[in-house]
Amino acid sequence: MKDRIKIAVTGACGKMGQSVIKAVNAEEDLQLVAAIDIINNGKDIGEIVENKSCGVLIENSLENALKSKQIDVVIDFTNPDLVFQNSMLILENGARPVIGTTGLSENQLEEIKKLSQEKNIGALIAPNFATGAVLMMMFAQKAAKYFSNAEIIELHHNKKKDAPSGTAIKTAQLMTQERSEFGKDNCSEVELIKGSRGGVTESNIHIHSVRLPGFIAHQEVILGAEGQALTIRHDSFDRISFMPGVILSARHVMKNNEFIYGLENIL
Ligand SMILES: NC(=O)c1ccc[n+]([C@@H]2O[C@H](COP(=O)([O-])OP(=O)(O)OC[C@H]3O[C@@H](n4cnc5c(N)ncnc54)[C@H](O)[C@@H]3O)[C@@H](O)[C@H]2O)c1
Repeated sequence: MKDRIKIAVTGACGKMGQSVIKAVNAEEDLQLVAAIDIINNGKDIGEIVENKSCGVLIENSLENALKSKQIDVVIDFTNPDLVFQNSMLILENGARPVIGTTGLSENQLEEIKKLSQEKNIGALIAPNFATGAVLMMMFAQKAAKYFSNAEIIELHHNKKKDAPSGTAIKTAQLMTQERSEFGKDNCSEVELIKGSRGGVTESNIHIHSVRLPGFIAHQEVILGAEGQALTIRHDSFDRISFMPGVILSARHVMKNNEFIYGLENIL
């Protein structure tokens, strides 16, 4: 049998991590070899995720896992405080990172890119692995050329630590490639409650972050021009929506040695 791709998952017990474990276990060419989390240490991850043992015990140190096991790809869904450190550690140990955790700064992305290029190891970071969300971003980028004003409303569950979402930031970046300044004709504004107009990008796209229990990941891009508006909306109703993109990325980094930011670059 052909060698399977050896996968480690960091944040394995989290909401995304558990979905990733199930998705990896369902693929014949992927083999789960490590599950890393700070909770449930020593327990079988299969018992936690699918109520049946899979023989992989949860460990709490990514570094120990990288040093003691053969790992090809690490899929990271942890938290914004940890993701930079994890990405660098993965590359330093010769494994390939597939990063879903959001919250990386521009400088941190640059540093990860530099290390991936120095080591000639594939790395993929995607603020959104759902194909529909990637299409939403692409459509918004295309529409930005024709609309003078744009605002983004992103909606997530109330346990999300970073705001605005990585998807909203990436959408605004793509739209700014088409138009350097939005809302040029807006009048000067006074916010009666601070933050009412949301976060504002350098290109003057206003981003509004909603956090409510029950939501997963949703985004609306509203573009305006004289006498018309265009609304582009994507909803992830279930974390399963991210899994085809995650699996595709794990396979991609095995075959390609470049640094990639955004799933649209491999679709
Ligand atoms: N790129 C995408 O498509 C996408 C989709 C959804 C969520 N996300 C992002 O993924 C991240 C995780 O989201 P979630 O909803 O699964 O969060 P979560 O809080 O449910 O899971 C995070 C997990 O990381 C674990 N963890 C915390 N510190 C750790 C450490 N030091 N070592 C190992 N594990 C540690 C936690 O115990 C938890 O199990 C967030 O940044 C979120 O924004 C990205």
